Amino acid sequence: MPGQNRRQFIFNSLGFLMLPALPVVAAGMLSPTPSQTAGPFYPPDLPLDDDNDLTRVAGFDKPALGTIADLSGRLLDRNGNPLNGLRIEIWQCDANGRYHHPADSGRSPVDEGFQGHGHTHSDDRGRYRFRTIRPVHYPGRTPHIHVAVVPDTQNAFVTQLYVANEQRNAWDPLYRRIPVDQRHLVTAEFKAGADQSSRTLTANWDIVLGINAI
Ligand SMILES: [Fe+2]
Repeated sequence: MPGQNRRQFIFNSLGFLMLPALPVVAAGMLSPTPSQTAGPFYPPDLPLDDDNDLTRVAGFDKPALGTIADLSGRLLDRNGNPLNGLRIEIWQCDANGRYHHPADSGRSPVDEGFQGHGHTHSDDRGRYRFRTIRPVHYPGRTPHIHVAVVPDTQNAFVTQLYVANEQRNAWDPLYRRIPVDQRHLVTAEFKAGADQSSRTLTANWDIVLGINAI
């Protein structure tokens, strides 16, 4: 889908996104991941380098600032079936709390080594993977990563991923909007790996679309 149409597609779906989170479903089925607003900082122009490694920008020598995080998981329907070949996007602020967006009025310098936005496609087991940074807070928000799943023929699903045990979650207005018993569905631990010599964190998070199949 061309970029402009795809972006329009995402924001046309805001009405859907503002619906209250779906209730927990019948036993035997997975609870769908709650949706959340896309927020104001979806990039108006996607970066030329828009791959699933947000910590490196093609043509720029320095890697991204911040703590590197390996984010992976599966994209599933409510029956637990993998959803294959769907486009998954993430976007977030850099380690200085700056979005790569003209409407971001922060005073900290933009980290040019951070890609800001990236995308991948789920594989035949529903798996996806991103290399990014552990999200950081910025004024008014707890750390989070924006996530969109963009099927070709249905409205985009948009949500936000939060960091487990992050104290700022308790007062974040969007996190608090999610029913308490569903917050774990949009929260992941960012853990140090078994190899303690590595500074890369790992986070595992499954996304469950509120459908039976596409
Ligand atoms: Fe945000």
